[in-house]
Amino acid sequence: MTSLQAWPRADDLRREIRDHGRALLPGLLSRDEAARVASATSSLPTRRAYRGNTGVTFDSQALGPGSELYDLFQSAPMVCTARAGLGLPEGAPVQRLIGWIHRYKVGEYIPPHRDVSGDIQLVVSLHQPPPENGGTLFVADVGGLHPVPLSTGDALLFVARELTHYSVALVPTIDNPRPVKVVAVGRYHF
Ligand SMILES: [Fe+2]
Repeated sequence: MTSLQAWPRADDLRREIRDHGRALLPGLLSRDEAARVASATSSLPTRRAYRGNTGVTFDSQALGPGSELYDLFQSAPMVCTARAGLGLPEGAPVQRLIGWIHRYKVGEYIPPHRDVSGDIQLVVSLHQPPPENGGTLFVADVGGLHPVPLSTGDALLFVARELTHYSVALVPTIDNPRPVKVVAVGRYHF
């Protein structure tokens, strides 16, 4: 399923995570694979996720063992990638893996936050609309605020407990009046 052309070297991942808290994995999925998975998961049970007292909501779907995306997060290449990012020894067991999908529509976004648990997180873009429709992910570190330009199929490995992150609201355009954005997330506890 994964189609990453040039898998990042473990020491490069470690350096990126150590220095910046994040590492981009372009083309983790092909656009076709991402579209297929986004479509295949659209009928999973969905709830509205609420973000504190911000009043912001969006659709959220839990991913469990046996689902294709959970199995991807649990696969050896993904676990090795997560381990490498944290500088953990080969074979360090995953204590817990939680997976979910977020689906955003016009006006929806995730407000600034840091995650409360997990050692490292993998975010996979299953559908990213054109930039003019918004939805861009931002992360903040000591160096300031940085856009993370994820295209459909790209992934970001990052330390979600340490980096404040958020996305901007989706906006309609004439060409794309009802944009949606779909991301899958795997949260690893080692
Ligand atoms: Fe988060």
